[in-house]
Amino acid sequence: MQHLLGIEQLTAGDIEHLLSQTDRFVEVSRRRMPKVPALQGRTVTWLFYEDSTRTRLSFEQAAKRLSADTLSFAVSSSSVRKGESLRDTVQTIEAMGVDAIVVRHSSAGVPAQIARWVSGSVVNAGDGWHEHPTQALLDCYTIRERLGGLDGLHIAIVGDIKHSRVARSDVLAFTRLGAEVTLVAPPTLLPPSLAGWPVRVSHDLDAVLPTVDVVYLLRIQAERMTEALVPSLREYTARYGMTRRRVDLLADKAIVMHPGPMNRGVEIAADVAELPRAVVVDQVRNGVAVRMAVLYELLAQPAGRELDRAGTDEVAGPPDVVGAAQEGAE
Ligand code: CP
Repeated sequence: MQHLLGIEQLTAGDIEHLLSQTDRFVEVSRRRMPKVPALQGRTVTWLFYEDSTRTRLSFEQAAKRLSADTLSFAVSSSSVRKGESLRDTVQTIEAMGVDAIVVRHSSAGVPAQIARWVSGSVVNAGDGWHEHPTQALLDCYTIRERLGGLDGLHIAIVGDIKHSRVARSDVLAFTRLGAEVTLVAPPTLLPPSLAGWPVRVSHDLDAVLPTVDVVYLLRIQAERMTEALVPSLREYTARYGMTRRRVDLLADKAIVMHPGPMNRGVEIAADVAELPRAVVVDQVRNGVAVRMAVLYELLAQPAGRELDRAGTDEVAGPPDVVGAAQEGAE
């Protein structure tokens, strides 16, 4: 794998492999010194043309925990502001010896375009309404952690499906791992065509909730109210918000997920987000280990791949790979 541009490119086996690798990096992350030298000498940078808290910071944390060098780049204070083109920006970055570029952009397809321009690796950190593959991987990992696996589960994805790259990547990942997915939204927040989507559709959240193992809430984007896609936030919450009353419709073991950032009081009630069955913080925490697994898959050199042969109990691996970082490990 040279690039990670979308879940579309991954088989079920690829996803399972990345989740297994994530197990190893969860173990690393629990150490007192959560760092391994697997990517020593490699350089990672980020090109975020859209705002981010979770994705940007967790990629940075992941790269640092793998001992990669990181080049900080902020579009808002770069020569992009002087009109430098995307292609010139990317080629400038690559000329400095960068091995991987993590890209977020408001236009679908930009990471794939950049991948055609560079010889290093590109990771899609969210492109327009298209895909957000590492979000889907961390979501799968979190579900697997809480419920043991996805095969046979029923997952409801609720909210603004139409504009959601998370929904697209999640539908692909969840169904490839054997889950059934129901999209729950008003007709105005569904894509114009769902041809080819392996999903069912409902407009009745109360009817769906008792049947699900996972309810996955999407951010309702207040900025879209100008497009009159829903009559009002109050009405949206009344029909599709995850309130305490609706939590009582869930099976005992069902979990509540949200990719963040949350609009508390709109798609999720403030107190629901604090319940033990709400796994939003687990999603964020797992995001670091998932992104470690992705960067490792893309960038580890043959020597670094000693980790592969070491086995889970020996992620510490040979001294030349991670030995120094093991000092003080729990
Ligand atoms: N879930 C997610 O992509 O969050 P950020 O926009 O904060 O990265």
